[in-house]
Amino acid sequence: MSVKIAPSLLAADFTRLYDQVKMIDATGIDMHHLDVMDGCFVPNISFGPLVVEAVRRVTDKTLDVHLMIVEPEKFLKQFRDVGADWITVHLEAVKDREAEVIQQIKDTGAKAGISIKPDTPAEAAIPFLSEVDLVLIMSVHPGFGGQKFIPDALSKVKVFHELRSANNHNYLISIDGGVGLSNAQSIVNTGADILVAGSSIYLSSNPQEVVRTLKSLVPAK
Ligand code: DX5
Ligand code: ZN
Repeated sequence: MSVKIAPSLLAADFTRLYDQVKMIDATGIDMHHLDVMDGCFVPNISFGPLVVEAVRRVTDKTLDVHLMIVEPEKFLKQFRDVGADWITVHLEAVKDREAEVIQQIKDTGAKAGISIKPDTPAEAAIPFLSEVDLVLIMSVHPGFGGQKFIPDALSKVKVFHELRSANNHNYLISIDGGVGLSNAQSIVNTGADILVAGSSIYLSSNPQEVVRTLKSLVPAK
């Protein structure tokens, strides 16, 4: 199975959203990654259901919605209703009610993802691994695109990859933040299934070539 590519819309030119989504669709991506920020869980505000709904009308690709918001359970149904296929919440945002919120995501009919910030150890996710469809490892401090990759994220990819094999879990492993041509091979080598990449794709002079190269990566033997 080749690695899946999930461009982050955050790096798009929002004055030309239709053209940008169509252009990125045509490069052979697997899904669109949509970063929802509330200015409270993270120090930035991006967009909400209105934009997810607009993107839904333009593409048939999977919409991978990454909620960087407090009390995400209040908005799960709304994001599902406007077209989210995958909904990911941060464990830090649903403390002591993690399992309940994961179940609430599934009840909407969406695939359920959990994410951890760079300072949260991989161990925090272990109790929930049998229940989730996606583990999203943050390789930057969430809130902004265009930051530098934090290499420690690779050790978490490795942990989740080993745990999956050892326990026959089914989740996909995604890595988000600072991913591009210079580090993608080492990330793929550690066992990530999905590469989320914003600036390295949208801001490239040749997004098609970047996506083609990223998709061609296979783990080194
Ligand atoms: C950060 C977001 C990421 C980010 C990726 O909070 O979750 O998806 O926008 O952007 P790049 O690839 O530019 O780091
Ligand atoms: Zn994201």
